[in-house]
Amino acid sequence: MADNHIASLLEQMTLNEKIGQLVQLATPFLKGASDGGQITGPMKNMGIDEESIKDTGSVLGASGAEEIMNIQNTHLAENRLGIPLLFMSDIIHGYKTIFPVPLAIGCSWDMELAEKSAEIAANEAAVSGVHVTFSPMVDLSRDPRWGRVMESTGEDPYLNSEIARAYVRGFQGEDVTRDLGRLAACVKHFAAYGAPEGGRDYNTVDMSERQLREMYLPAYKAALDEGCEMVMTSFNILNGVPATGNKPLMRDLLRDEWGFDGVLISDWGAVKELIPHGVAEDEKEAAQKAITAGVDIEMMTGCYTSHLQGLIEEGAIDEETVDEAVLRILQLKQKLGLFDNPHRGADPALEEQVVLCAEHRSAARELAAKSSVLLKNDRVLPLNPNQKVSLIGPFARDADILGPWSWLGAEEDTVTLEDGLRQYVNPDRLTIAPGCSVESGTEEDMQAAVHAAEEADVIILGLGERSYMSGEAGCRADIRLPDAQLKLIERVKSLGKSVVAVLFNGRPLDLHGVLDEADAVLEAWYPGTEGGSAVADLLFGAVNPSGRLAMSFPYTVGQVPVYYNHFNTGRPKDAPDAQERFVSQYLDIPNEPMLPFGFGLSYTTYEYSNLTLSSDTMTAWDSLHVSVNVTNTGEAAGEEVVQLYIRDVAGEIVRPVNELKDFQKIVLEPGETKTIAFTITEDQLRYHHANLDYTSDPGRFQVSIGPNSQNITTRTFTLTD
Ligand code: BGC
Repeated sequence: MADNHIASLLEQMTLNEKIGQLVQLATPFLKGASDGGQITGPMKNMGIDEESIKDTGSVLGASGAEEIMNIQNTHLAENRLGIPLLFMSDIIHGYKTIFPVPLAIGCSWDMELAEKSAEIAANEAAVSGVHVTFSPMVDLSRDPRWGRVMESTGEDPYLNSEIARAYVRGFQGEDVTRDLGRLAACVKHFAAYGAPEGGRDYNTVDMSERQLREMYLPAYKAALDEGCEMVMTSFNILNGVPATGNKPLMRDLLRDEWGFDGVLISDWGAVKELIPHGVAEDEKEAAQKAITAGVDIEMMTGCYTSHLQGLIEEGAIDEETVDEAVLRILQLKQKLGLFDNPHRGADPALEEQVVLCAEHRSAARELAAKSSVLLKNDRVLPLNPNQKVSLIGPFARDADILGPWSWLGAEEDTVTLEDGLRQYVNPDRLTIAPGCSVESGTEEDMQAAVHAAEEADVIILGLGERSYMSGEAGCRADIRLPDAQLKLIERVKSLGKSVVAVLFNGRPLDLHGVLDEADAVLEAWYPGTEGGSAVADLLFGAVNPSGRLAMSFPYTVGQVPVYYNHFNTGRPKDAPDAQERFVSQYLDIPNEPMLPFGFGLSYTTYEYSNLTLSSDTMTAWDSLHVSVNVTNTGEAAGEEVVQLYIRDVAGEIVRPVNELKDFQKIVLEPGETKTIAFTITEDQLRYHHANLDYTSDPGRFQVSIGPNSQNITTRTFTLTD
């Protein structure tokens, strides 16, 4: 269908039909749907009647080719102009083959596999009838109390941006119109949802525009530069105005400055939430503010349905504003080919073959292994299959390792830690006893665990958080493991055996009581469908750990937010001439996090040497070449993430002590040395100045390379005019 058809369709539409396109309803509201499908949020008092359902433009949370085809057929039979529905769902880290949570994928630093995971998620969802995924979520986050850090890819704008791009490429492919196995992507939550005060979900966000542009906006922009079709608003206020009614953010910045002309959707119920936020007296004012700000689709509340017509009649908004929004939605439907092929990729037969196929499972296993981060290893790992193993802890055989946002992932399809270990250990060498549940335990269970571990050579402890302890509205003020698990560690430790802790959780934890007690600690995050296999591959050395933290682990929660790319202060603690007391420090804990951004161990060791710059000066017109030799000095082949950081020593505006500007993930055989080369160009030295101009300052810069943000070697160069 050509553009003029869309325009003529718009002309034929009544105002009610137009408004219907701007409404998104959850599956159970739609005729032809079997019950179920809704995922979150309040679904009452929507003011939606039978008539308005016929005009609805899109559906949230439907899945399954047959179900979706059914809903679409029923809808097309009832919709006067035959405008197909758009089916949108949260396909966040997999459809039914669940990959590790995004924070874990961030720790893989592997853009090819990140892209592959999104491609597989898209393939499975597309044959199941889905058109749009509410992903990638690219909210930069520095506060592990916030439950949704597991959905983010951490604290760094550059790494976040690279992964945002990889996800968009994976979901959409090169041509989402032609490739029926892909989905349109929707980047979220615009903007700065990851910075709620106190790490409490939906809470206030207040920050300078420079900070916003510097740290928080780049990943959304990167997703859009990669061609992401849609944007979702965030729940939070941003500098006093809720994002969902924030005209400067949505019209001026997103649409005018960035040129985004795709569909902007509100988050679940966020239009109506303008009322409790305190910027709208009632639903009518909420509708007015949201549509004026440029929100095209209202998700799951009825402010647009009930009030847009009245607002137009009163002249409070122009019908053109509504037309504009409708046009964008129709254009997306057209781009996805729905007017010609309303079922698009939906195919029940193909669905059977594709979903959870062996190839997808094997990609999930590979990415889960690459996303796990080895945090400690006192010569315990890798294990030898001849050792007697005791598997203890609440996650010993628990399948709750898919993580939040895996609504279609089934625990019965999940490889647990026990299943994974059984692939390596003979049954007569394995004893299993959970010892406690995630949040509580009895003395009897503890004793059973201690007893089970008595004969073992090594104890593997499966520990962590239940998936409901993170994710949306899953915030915690105390980010240690629950007491029962900390006690369990102490008890099994007293047996004097080697203890390996494997962590299944959604946030950087305060690891006191774990890192100090266990001989080895593997952060497996929520590793997904193939989690148990991937962890076993790592524990037994079939795969050498290569994950690196995408978010710092705080020393204690009192340090939060603690992140590597902070400012120096006027009284840095580590200055050569620092006083003992009057410096920026805590009296009771270190300034540094427990584990820094970029950190992760391996079964081999790497040595960095010969950091060389091609020149000690550069201009805006040329570039600087940086190289470093990296040698595998151990006995196992491994993958190392070589990280390049830059610091602008004296800017017009204070600059972070370090900023990740590039990285390479390389493979090294034992004894092998590779020379790793990077190019620095002037655009990498730019930042937002006092007037928000994005330029660089001539002067001195430090370039540092190393295996993580703390362990780096530095050289200096000067940018000249
Ligand atoms: C979440 C979004 C999600 C939406 C639809 C909201 O509660 O914040 O991330 O896409 O629900 O399920």
